[in-house]
Amino acid sequence: MLNVGLIGAGRIGRVHARSVAANAGATLRLVADPVLAAAESLAEAHGARAGSDVDAIFSDPEVDAVIICSPTPLHVDHIVAAAKAGKPALCEKPVAMDLAAVDELQGRLAGLEPLVMMGFQRRFDPSFRRVHDLVSAGEVGPVEQVTIVSRDPAAPPAEYIAVSGGIFKDMTIHDFDMARYLLGDIVAVSAVGQHLDPALADTGDFDGAVITLVSAQGAVATITNSRHCATGYDQRVEVFGPRGSLAVENLRATTVRRFGADASSAEDPYLDFFLTRYEAAYARELDEFIAAIAENRAPTPTIADGVAALRIAEAAAASANSGAIVRL
Ligand SMILES: NC(=O)c1ccc[n+]([C@@H]2O[C@H](COP(=O)([O-])OP(=O)(O)OC[C@H]3O[C@@H](n4cnc5c(N)ncnc54)[C@H](O)[C@@H]3O)[C@@H](O)[C@H]2O)c1
Repeated sequence: MLNVGLIGAGRIGRVHARSVAANAGATLRLVADPVLAAAESLAEAHGARAGSDVDAIFSDPEVDAVIICSPTPLHVDHIVAAAKAGKPALCEKPVAMDLAAVDELQGRLAGLEPLVMMGFQRRFDPSFRRVHDLVSAGEVGPVEQVTIVSRDPAAPPAEYIAVSGGIFKDMTIHDFDMARYLLGDIVAVSAVGQHLDPALADTGDFDGAVITLVSAQGAVATITNSRHCATGYDQRVEVFGPRGSLAVENLRATTVRRFGADASSAEDPYLDFFLTRYEAAYARELDEFIAAIAENRAPTPTIADGVAALRIAEAAAASANSGAIVRL
């Protein structure tokens, strides 16, 4: 039984707390958040202790491993603290705010042998994993093109966007990791950013983007992002090769189709957001974290995967701001 401490009781903290509660191999012991009321309400729901002293989680003898769900600027400190305490960590994306912070992280981890897994849960989504496995088995031949559509139903609050690092590090980072998962190393990035939502104008961040990535093998991935989508949480992937293609469509709560005077073959709306769409993925991600700890091996995705996605995100931002193709 793995005794888990959770750091940060916000949106994603609640998702992980639920996964831990549902996992027969783990128990939620402690929730730490400087906002004590947030820690308490989450801890209470799962029979765990709560605390506002976040540092105390690293020395707590009841905590075997931590899940880091704090705001991105705190990830480096929390990964280092977990490593120094000898506690395995599952850390949410992105690994750090920027590549300078990654250098700092690598310096502070020198001489330690941390077990750290990055929270790119989409790799554990059953449909995306199947696509990955079929691609690896040569089903479509050498991949030529990948198309990723990733649109959120609605933008997070402007205050969240202000500290998120921007759309490429906050949102597209999942798609960059998906492109790497399917294509391997990325060598060139070009991006166009959009300012379409007046409500987000003051954030200075793009609220839509189209990004093109070129892989080391010459395959091209196109990523289409929007912070809003009237039809819901739009998550699709297509992989194209000389022998065929593989496509993952949006998931729905049921397979019922309705027919009437105004529309035919209408289906249920898409599963509404990351919590429901990726529920199975978060559960399997946790399974991998628990298994890696039990088997004393490095879990995947690694810090290096987190850094590679962050590098692409910085390149995309540079390309969107300059109009140039950025080579990695
Ligand atoms: N993998 C995913 O699907 C996914 C989804 C959402 C967010 N995230 C990532 O998770 C992280 C948190 O995002 P969120 O949406 O849950 O944010 P949030 O703002 O909802 O929650 C953050 C929580 O961290 C707490 N906090 C603040 N300072 C802290 C500290 N020093 N130590 C511990 N906790 C602290 C806040 O009080 C808050 O409860 C971000 O890095 C984000 O990129 C990942």
